[in-house]
Amino acid sequence: MASRDPFSEPFGTLFSENFTTAVGVGAEYTYSGSVEPLRDLALSPATHALHYGSTCFEGLKAHRQQDGSVAIFRLDDHVARFRQSIEKLYLGVPDTDLIRKMITDAVASNAADCPDAPGSLYIRPTMIGTEPNIGAAATPSKTTLLYILNSPVGDYFAGGIRPLTLLVEGTTPRTTPQFGMVKSGANYVMALGVTLDAKRDHVADQVLFATNGDITETGASNFFLVNDNQLVTRNLDESFLHGVTRSSIITLAADLGYEVEERALSVDELVAWGADGGEVFLSGTAAVVAPVGTVIVEGDRVQVGDGQPGANTLKLREALTSIQVGAAEDTHGWMASV
Ligand SMILES: Cc1ncc(COP(=O)(O)O)c(C=O)c1O
Repeated sequence: MASRDPFSEPFGTLFSENFTTAVGVGAEYTYSGSVEPLRDLALSPATHALHYGSTCFEGLKAHRQQDGSVAIFRLDDHVARFRQSIEKLYLGVPDTDLIRKMITDAVASNAADCPDAPGSLYIRPTMIGTEPNIGAAATPSKTTLLYILNSPVGDYFAGGIRPLTLLVEGTTPRTTPQFGMVKSGANYVMALGVTLDAKRDHVADQVLFATNGDITETGASNFFLVNDNQLVTRNLDESFLHGVTRSSIITLAADLGYEVEERALSVDELVAWGADGGEVFLSGTAAVVAPVGTVIVEGDRVQVGDGQPGANTLKLREALTSIQVGAAEDTHGWMASV
């Protein structure tokens, strides 16, 4: 890695020296079995992914442990979601063991780059359809490139833990309903218009997608309501990403004695929840657990609780991050050593 500090650079702009790659033909992948120096890719201008969007990725993290070692959070769950995204793009799905090995090889070779908490080594498995064919709009790419990129990161939201402002978008969905659970770049670019408008016109941090009042997720994280007794989040369906952090928070909240509800959530309920002193937060690999202080609903800025990070939000954040750095017992078997 360049000797730059991940805490003073934007998230995702520093890259480790090594990566792993494999080329695929159908579901057969060839991996050399060792890392390579990070390099630019040589792609045909006719590459399928560049024209027809046959590309997807994952996002997970390796954390510096209190004993100095490095371990990956929920590796198997991320590999499973990556394979599901690849399948939805009709690309050859690599074996679980191959993806796992390519990730652990990359992280082991770049482990020195992993900063101490709250920093981490962000891992970006990426799949692209490489067939050189601009006439293949209605056929999947038979050939693929799989690679694992590492990026030392500090905080996703500049300024560390601070209450975020969300613009509630009730009309334009983030993506198409049947594709929301796929981690494909097209979903993110589709959400750009409303996100840029929200930042420019309302100085919002993120957009909360709530088509016709039905809250799902933001552009890069899942959404929760919490108070002293209860944790509420949207029940899963194909319309939004099934966050690994979301599932971890649900498990930890149940461990801590919260009553957990996964169900439909309306914007009216969100506003009433905040007015009653309830807390709102986002979850994600990058966002971790991020408190929400203000929501903008139809142009009105509505404060959530006292507008500050709440005690329950911080308690859940702490429960999660202490497992990730090895400060609390990993009772659910979430950490994979490298
Ligand atoms: C659209 C979207 N929703 C939710 C999440 C949170 O998912 P996870 O907790 O697996 O990172 C992410 C981040 O990966 C995301 O991009």
